[in-house]
Amino acid sequence: MAVAVLSYLLGAIPAAAWVARSRGVDIRTVGSGNSGATNVLRSLGKGPAAFVAAFDILKGVLAVMLARLMGLDPAWVALCGVLAVIGHNFSVFLSGRGGKGVATSFGTVAALSPAIGIFAFVLAIFTMWLTRFVSAGSIIGAAAVLALLGFSYLVQLPPPWYATAALAFLASLLIWQHRDNIRRLTGGNERRLGEKA
Ligand code: G3P
Repeated sequence: MAVAVLSYLLGAIPAAAWVARSRGVDIRTVGSGNSGATNVLRSLGKGPAAFVAAFDILKGVLAVMLARLMGLDPAWVALCGVLAVIGHNFSVFLSGRGGKGVATSFGTVAALSPAIGIFAFVLAIFTMWLTRFVSAGSIIGAAAVLALLGFSYLVQLPPPWYATAALAFLASLLIWQHRDNIRRLTGGNERRLGEKA
């Protein structure tokens, strides 16, 4: 239980909001308003964005590693990884607000199922490179996780139920968190990579 709370709190550390605040910027009032690495890239540049992305990925990885180190049952390990993402998206340090959970979900998925994590990552980066929309890459990466899970059941080689539940939940949550981006993408007014805040 303590590790679960710790996982939430670790995920809740709002790196994007705090890095931006340290430079006199309120991340919620610039660009997309999202507390994430993409919006830090728009408003503060590459260095701070790389730091925030790495920090947010580590939150997911560390929550899973910590739970494993504590000898928790694999289902609890998966839950701790999910809780890090919940903390990121609904942070107690931001009055229940937060980011969209892309980097932290990637950290959790990569720590729980490295092959699926790497596949989704490569597909997401390729989509971002092709379209110059970070949001499109994130959504395609999440959709790939759902498709891979479906395929694994089709060929009767599914991951354990707790990994399936964790990955399916995280991928669905990520897509839901991008509902405004989906509206902008379909409306033709989503910001491309490199466009300033
Ligand atoms: O970091 C989340 C990314 O997929 C979209 O971010 O700021 O363009 O809404 P943003």
